[in-house]
Amino acid sequence: MMEEDMKAILYTKEEVAARIQAMGEQLTRDYQGELPLVVGVLRGSFIFMADLVRSIQTPLELDFVAASSYGSWAVSTGTVEMRLDLEKEIIGRHVLLVEDILDTGRTLSKLVTELKKRHPASLKLCVLLDKPERRVTEIEADYVGFTVPDEFVVGCGLDFNQKYRQLPYIGILKPSIYQ
Ligand code: XMP
Ligand code: MG
Repeated sequence: MMEEDMKAILYTKEEVAARIQAMGEQLTRDYQGELPLVVGVLRGSFIFMADLVRSIQTPLELDFVAASSYGSWAVSTGTVEMRLDLEKEIIGRHVLLVEDILDTGRTLSKLVTELKKRHPASLKLCVLLDKPERRVTEIEADYVGFTVPDEFVVGCGLDFNQKYRQLPYIGILKPSIYQ
């Protein structure tokens, strides 16, 4: 079973659910009356985003972008490109960009730069996980679920070679799996 591939479970299903619920309550207060556009970064954000928006009680709209980075997680070339663009215009909108993990920061830095050119009223970042030790760009998220150590984590949308996304918990993958 997939659980055998985990070195440890970092956050259980219940802990993840409780944290996302609390984030939703915070976002409900912060975006009251603003009809934010919640933008998910495919594919990693989809499970977090689905849980998050269901815990937000104020009206919102949804859209998606996708980014591709070349090179593997271990040996990133640092080049990131937007591969799928928004359907909607964001000029004057309050945009909340939702991602699974803020790691080196290259992906979100690139997306923030692109989206800011379109003059949103505001642009904030919401991530399930933050791994500050690996940061190579100057970027911080406005909303963070959990701060994690520098280990390869999977579950709740995060994958290794497209696997493990469906795990309901955040697990640390055994290094033997990816080495
Ligand atoms: P950057 O480095 O651009 O990373 O902030 C963003 C993307 O890298 C992937 N990533 C991970 N995926 N476990 C994963 O499953 C991890 O520990 C991890 N660290 C980075 C992820 O796709 C993220 O969107
Ligand atoms: Mg990703």
